[in-house]
This record gives sequence, C-alpha cells and structure tokens, in this order.
Amino acid sequence: MQRKKIEIQQNYFKDADNFEENIFSNKLKVHKIQMHELFYISQLENMVFQNPWSYFDFNAFYHSSIFRCIKMVNTIVGYAIYRKEYFREYDRKICHLMKIAVHPEFRNLGIGSILLKQMEKYSKRNHLSLIYLEVRESNKSAISFYEKNGYFRYKVIDDYYQETGESAFLMVKNIKKIMKI
Ligand SMILES: CC(C)(COP(=O)(O)OP(=O)(O)OC[C@H]1O[C@@H](n2cnc3c(N)ncnc32)[C@H](O)[C@@H]1OP(=O)(O)O)[C@@H](O)C(=O)NCCC(=O)NCCS
Repeated sequence: MQRKKIEIQQNYFKDADNFEENIFSNKLKVHKIQMHELFYISQLENMVFQNPWSYFDFNAFYHSSIFRCIKMVNTIVGYAIYRKEYFREYDRKICHLMKIAVHPEFRNLGIGSILLKQMEKYSKRNHLSLIYLEVRESNKSAISFYEKNGYFRYKVIDDYYQETGESAFLMVKNIKKIMKI
C-alpha cells in the first residue's frame, strides 16, 4: 500500500486512539463477519450498490458462504462474500465471488486487493481450481480492479441484470497457475 494515498484518509478517524498504529503498520487483518454484524454490512451494501442485497439475503447466505471483512478502528470498511461451487460439466470445484465492496472513503488503499488475496488463499487451500465472478459491463473501476489482480474477462452474459437488462462480464482467475499467493 502506498503511504501517500493512505494519508489522505487521516482526518476520517482523527480522534481515534492509535490511529497511525492501527492503520498504517500493515496490521490490516481479515476477519470473519459475525452474524450480529450483518445489519451493518447491509447498511454498507445500501451505500455502495444500486441494487443491494437485503439484510435477509445476507442472512440466507450466511451459513453456506464465506463472509470476510476488514476493520479499521473496529469499524468494517470492506467485505467479501464467496463460496465453493461444483462445476459439473468439468468435474471441478471452483470459487464464486458473490460480493466485494469497500466503503467509498477507503477505496484505492489496497483493501479490496487484500480481500481478494484472502479468497485466493482459501481457494488454494480448498483445491478450488478457478475463481469466477460477474461484474456489470459499465463498472469500469471494478473491472480495472479485477484485471489489476490477475482476473480476465472470459465472456459476456447478456441481460444478466434483470432490473436494467445490463450485461455482465464473467471474469475468471485460474488458481492452479498461481505459484505464490
Ligand atoms: C471494486 C472495489 C471493491 C475495489 O476496492 P479498493 O479497496 O478500492 O481496491 P484496491 O485499492 O485494492 O485496488 C485499487 C485498484 O482498483 C482500480 N480502480 C479503483 N478505482 C478505479 C477507478 N475509478 N478507475 C479505474 N480503476 C480504478 C485500479 O486498478 C486501482 O489500482 P491503481 O490505484 O494502482 O490504479 C471498490 O472500488 C468498491 O467497493 N466498488 C464498489 C462496489 C463494486 O463495484 N464491487 C464489485 C462488484 S462486481
């Protein structure tokens, strides 16, 4: 992470104790999201997405998926949700990234990339050979974020988003090729 970029955010927590120590010393840990935190995740979701998952959606996926977050001064600033799936056609277990979001005040600091790396470690540990995700064709910043992290556009899924009829890119990363995560 570049220190210069992070310094821009300093005012946000200017009153917090040990601000420097908490945020700038590579102490960003990935945590499991607890069930009682889903309400907050759902608020963040509403802030970030045009068609957000509801609180009930988060609840419904909680036990069948991996819920991870990054906190700063005990506040969740980013989250990722993914799960193991079976790809019958190729008899392969793969990982589906269903959600990733970072609070607007904390973007471009590397938080999203840390969450991706954690998911890749999980995939490697669980012998999932591939990670895939869907992203709106218009979401240029997210596409660039995924490409920077080694994902590529595999195909277009027409009319993927029912509410607008927008198409999605199916993006993938082949985990077998990753030598070091
Ligand atoms: C996508 C998202 C999770 C990335 O999180 P992040 O913590 O900001 O990402 P990182 O800091 O790890 O990576 C930043 C990289 O993303 C890309 N990026 C971010 N914003 C960008 C923008 N406005 N234009 C182009 N590229 C952008 C760049 O590649 C950037 O790297 P660089 O600064 O070296 O050029 C975050 O932007 C977000 O929450 N977006 C809204 C929700 C969303 O769209 N989720 C994905 C749905 S599929």
